[in-house]
Amino acid sequence: MSRALARSAASSGRLPATTAVRAVSTTPALRESSSTYESPFKGQPKNKVPDFSKYMAKRPPSSNALFSYFMVGTLGAISAAGAKSTIQEFLVNMSASADVLAMAKVEVDLNAIPEGKNVIIKWRGKPVFIRHRTPAEIEEANSVNVASLRDPQADADRVKKPEWLVMLGVCTHLGCVPIGEAGDFGGWFCPCHGSHYDISGRIRKGPAPLNLEVPTYDFTDDGKLVVG
Ligand code: FES
Repeated sequence: MSRALARSAASSGRLPATTAVRAVSTTPALRESSSTYESPFKGQPKNKVPDFSKYMAKRPPSSNALFSYFMVGTLGAISAAGAKSTIQEFLVNMSASADVLAMAKVEVDLNAIPEGKNVIIKWRGKPVFIRHRTPAEIEEANSVNVASLRDPQADADRVKKPEWLVMLGVCTHLGCVPIGEAGDFGGWFCPCHGSHYDISGRIRKGPAPLNLEVPTYDFTDDGKLVVG
């Protein structure tokens, strides 16, 4: 019935030719032919893995491992050398320069200091008192009852050689520089607030809480003192 209608419409010229063809293609015969389409992937496994065998290395696996070890070792050595160089540069930059190191230690010729005299030197920006003590002063320093002191310390613990007393010239109260051969105890006197230190540099009277500090020092074989 539809074919007859299409043909009559086409012959009468009321419908375009394409319309006629489309009407014809709806026939059961054509529907049957389109259902016979065969997929080219039919029967193939769903997740087929591509074959990469032609890309594989032709050499034995051991030669590849050798190359890998060589590359890892070389890169490790280069990295270690770079890290060492970086750390070395950093430490060199951070360490004290030659002029700072020169100031870190001060050498004093003790032969130039007569007995019973004081010398003041500058070390790291601070005054250092050096006293060449007489036998009477040494005896006086040792005759003090240590237990009665505010900052108990025996004279022997403050000197390396009894005749040489070396200590920082900074008052332990608020940092003034005490005056030598002054005060009630024949040692040093701080005029800022009235602290008295004895001939061993120990606090005996006034507001200062501690004895004068003893710096690091040593004696050389040729009669010199090295502070620092
Ligand atoms: S600073 Fe020396 S007594 Fe105060």
